[in-house]
Amino acid sequence: MPKHVIIFASGTGSNAENICKVFEHNPNIQVKALFCNNPNAGVINKMKPFGVPVYLFNKADFENEASFLEQIQSYEPDLIVLAGFLWLIPAYLVNAFPRKIINIHPALLPKFGGKGMYGHHVHHAVIEAKEKEHGITIHFVTEKYDEGPPIFQARFDVQDTDTEADLARKISKLEMQYFPEAIRRVLGA
Ligand code: GRF
Repeated sequence: MPKHVIIFASGTGSNAENICKVFEHNPNIQVKALFCNNPNAGVINKMKPFGVPVYLFNKADFENEASFLEQIQSYEPDLIVLAGFLWLIPAYLVNAFPRKIINIHPALLPKFGGKGMYGHHVHHAVIEAKEKEHGITIHFVTEKYDEGPPIFQARFDVQDTDTEADLARKISKLEMQYFPEAIRRVLGA
């Protein structure tokens, strides 16, 4: 029986696409659905080649605990993967899926985490702080932004000449390289 993965994403979707690609021919892991709160998100079209169904939802749907849970449970997920999902995960979801929700964050947590710390904001802050190193964190999700137990980190040295765009490119490379592997390990598949 393959392990079921659900992805939550609301942005461009390069991680979601990469996860689908990596597991496309893996008999042990199936991406069952994309849950998306942004009808204009690039990630929606990225699911098409993989035949992954997209469930679009708004704040009210997200707050309707019983029906939202039912929607998720219908895919019998072994893991919920946040890949660029910006809303806080509410307690009812964290409690329904203990240690079964993971997130990727484009910084070396606990540095540069929390509400508002996403995308270029993170890289901007890293340059402003003259950080010597930067990287990614994959972690379990709790009710607080970016605070759950870490699963994996990968890092690189920041060069004096690095711009925000350079950091974004280096971070993306690490995400593509390590996120699917972390998912596989967490699932034991
Ligand atoms: C990634 O940098 C990820 O670390 C963060 O959101 C970004 C999503 O990018 N949580 P994409 O939508 O996968 O391109």
